[in-house]
Amino acid sequence: MKRYTDRQWMESMRISFDFNNMMADVIGEEEGIKKEDLDSMEDQLKAAAQAMSIKRKEGKMDWRDLPYDQDNVVEDILKTASEIKKEFDAFVLLGIGGSALGPIAVQQALNHLHYNELSREQRGGNPRFYVVDNIDPERMEALFEIIDVEKTMFNVITKSGSTSETMAQFLIVWNMLKDKLGRRFKDHIIATTDKEKGNLIKIAREYGLKTYYIPAGVGGRFSELSPVGLLPAAVCGIDIREMLAGAAFMDEICEAENVYDNPAYMAAALQYLAMRAGKNISVMMPYADSLKYMADWYAQLWAESLGKRYNLKGEEIFAGQTPVKALGVTDQHSQIQLYTEGPFDKVITFLTVGRYRTSMDIPEGFEDIPAVSFLGGHTLNELISAEQAATEYALLKAKRLNRTINLPEVNAFTVGQLLYFMEVETAFAGELLGINAFDQPGVEEGKNATYALLGRPGYEEKKAELDARPKKKDEYII
Ligand code: PA5
Repeated sequence: MKRYTDRQWMESMRISFDFNNMMADVIGEEEGIKKEDLDSMEDQLKAAAQAMSIKRKEGKMDWRDLPYDQDNVVEDILKTASEIKKEFDAFVLLGIGGSALGPIAVQQALNHLHYNELSREQRGGNPRFYVVDNIDPERMEALFEIIDVEKTMFNVITKSGSTSETMAQFLIVWNMLKDKLGRRFKDHIIATTDKEKGNLIKIAREYGLKTYYIPAGVGGRFSELSPVGLLPAAVCGIDIREMLAGAAFMDEICEAENVYDNPAYMAAALQYLAMRAGKNISVMMPYADSLKYMADWYAQLWAESLGKRYNLKGEEIFAGQTPVKALGVTDQHSQIQLYTEGPFDKVITFLTVGRYRTSMDIPEGFEDIPAVSFLGGHTLNELISAEQAATEYALLKAKRLNRTINLPEVNAFTVGQLLYFMEVETAFAGELLGINAFDQPGVEEGKNATYALLGRPGYEEKKAELDARPKKKDEYII
């Protein structure tokens, strides 16, 4: 029996959301959120919860079905992953934003922290894994210096099928593979994209590339539980069925319409009230290196979903909360000074781990130096947990809003829960703000300007607009 079918085990792995330090009766009236404020939102919360349910029923939140409706896809992915394992030394993901951040976060969370440096045997026979989510030429060249393209599988991922950065990488790889492998080049590329839209699907069909589809109603930043994240994870030996089971478990919890029963709704409601009180910065601070890139994934999800100029009524509201990534304990020595004594404009979210996957003793020593010797006899586990508790206390004392999401341990089941929790929180926050959390109109201007600068047909007018922009003044460049 798989452990993720054992209800008792699943319950023992339930992630928890502790919002004590958001509340006025804990952190103080001046900064804390009053229960009355939350209760006075009852109608708004109910309306938002109902809107979420209705949208889901109407098929407008397809990402919520990902934990359930992918049996055939999962079968196929597992088969492909085992074939890749037999033939390839490296698996390279070409993609950006929502097509890259989830796979990076999950790989970091669930595989060895130095996965690529392990021997093939230590990696369970799985290939090395690289994600190229930038177009820095030095990075691209550096990659080609350490992989053998003849033994590499490239997974090009783009939902829109037209993202310039990804398509530029794809062109480079396509040509290189053709040069080196002749007609066999196609066996080294897997496309993950929309079934109908975009250019990648056209190319994939024309050349008969192995292709996985991102369901139509699943946007980039909500796509980690689709083939976007599942294929790379499976190739690296991660139990994707367990991850999906974790997401389904959290989905059950998130069915509750009452915020007091629904941790993701509660999390969103409190962030909404915090934003209204001017807390415009959301810091995500995992106390585990394995969760370090969850903060990156969350940053995109939160920023791109909620950072909106207009609400659904077309009114200008300039919504959003700036996400900041931090790592405990590392950033205690870099950012915590600001969080405890700087402006009262932040909510800090701790991501904590109940049981680390290993334990390390700190040996006794230097008995003549008590300020060092007191560490001996403890473990690094105790130290990191104590530092998190101490930082939380320092923030509480300084009346800084903070909350804690605890994972009993980091495994595929809890990571699935965490991803799903944060997606629901984000969508619900979008409902409360009255915005469309699933589009990103603000990135269009920059994209169009890039097309114009590189001479893409159809962007001549934009090019003229750019040419007419004010010239930079030399006096302001020193
Ligand atoms: O969340 C989103 O939709 C975006 O951030 C996209 O993921 C990002 O722009 C990459 O897009 P695509 O997957 O279409 O290449």
